[in-house]
Amino acid sequence: MSGPFDRLSLAGRVVLITGATGGIGSETARLCAARGAAVVLADLNAEAGEALVGAIRVAGGQAAFVRTDVGAEADAAAMVRFAVETFGGLHAAFNNAGIDTGHLPVADTPLEQWQRNLGTNLTGTFLCMKHEIAHMLAHGGGAIVNTASTSGAIATVTSADYTAAKHGVVGVTRSAAVDYSARGIRVNAVLPGGIATPMLMGALVGNDPLRRVIEASHPIGRIGEPHEVAETAAFLLSDAASFITGACIMVDGGFTTQ
Ligand SMILES: NC(=O)c1ccc[n+]([C@@H]2O[C@H](COP(=O)([O-])OP(=O)(O)OC[C@H]3O[C@@H](n4cnc5c(N)ncnc54)[C@H](O)[C@@H]3O)[C@@H](O)[C@H]2O)c1
Repeated sequence: MSGPFDRLSLAGRVVLITGATGGIGSETARLCAARGAAVVLADLNAEAGEALVGAIRVAGGQAAFVRTDVGAEADAAAMVRFAVETFGGLHAAFNNAGIDTGHLPVADTPLEQWQRNLGTNLTGTFLCMKHEIAHMLAHGGGAIVNTASTSGAIATVTSADYTAAKHGVVGVTRSAAVDYSARGIRVNAVLPGGIATPMLMGALVGNDPLRRVIEASHPIGRIGEPHEVAETAAFLLSDAASFITGACIMVDGGFTTQ
């Protein structure tokens, strides 16, 4: 479908995606490309990034990879420059790179682990937003979606660093929405529950009892699929979400509703 009713279309847009080779990022990249965007894939993993570029091009899409550590300001700035130099602009960004650093309560969390977690999950999101917004302000606006987590709304047991970082992602999302929406930049967040990506499934290998506990903890009765987060992110990045800003949308099978 195309025309005035196809407000989900991303044709003519340049969409930047961080954590692009991971479970949620790669599904979102494929979906945005299928909806017409030129996608810029940013990640630490260059090999997987180039492979994903190839797969998107084979499917008829436009894509390019830029190796990026989102926690390094020079990399965040270079990633935005790369998007502009490669595809001529930057209209939308999905700040999705994230890490899980282990499961400890506050008193047991080493400072180094805390700093590593916040450095990628929170400071990384902030740095990407900072450079994306600077470009968008000077070029007619844009749309940003950040990946938080249900840990951005409620506490995950023994995950003080991750819970704090993801609450921070919700905070910086709302702050930027308030500051920039009147200047043409919408800023929203997705808050996934348990999603079947390497991040979660790696922790469940050989642990069927834990897997069943996690499945049962979602009222919908299962772990989510990466494409279910991608659909929400791509919607928020599109004109179909033109009156949505500052929203923090659960994609969690009802987990936080209980
Ligand atoms: N899988 C889940 O259950 C779940 C639940 C809630 C939130 N999330 C969030 O979703 C996002 C995507 O995670 P995923 O589940 O797809 O995991 P994943 O491990 O498959 O993907 C994460 C990606 O981020 C990249 N990355 C890590 N550190 C980076 C850095 N410093 N710079 C650039 N890229 C970096 C990794 O290389 C990887 O490709 C994360 O922010 C995560 O916290 C995941």
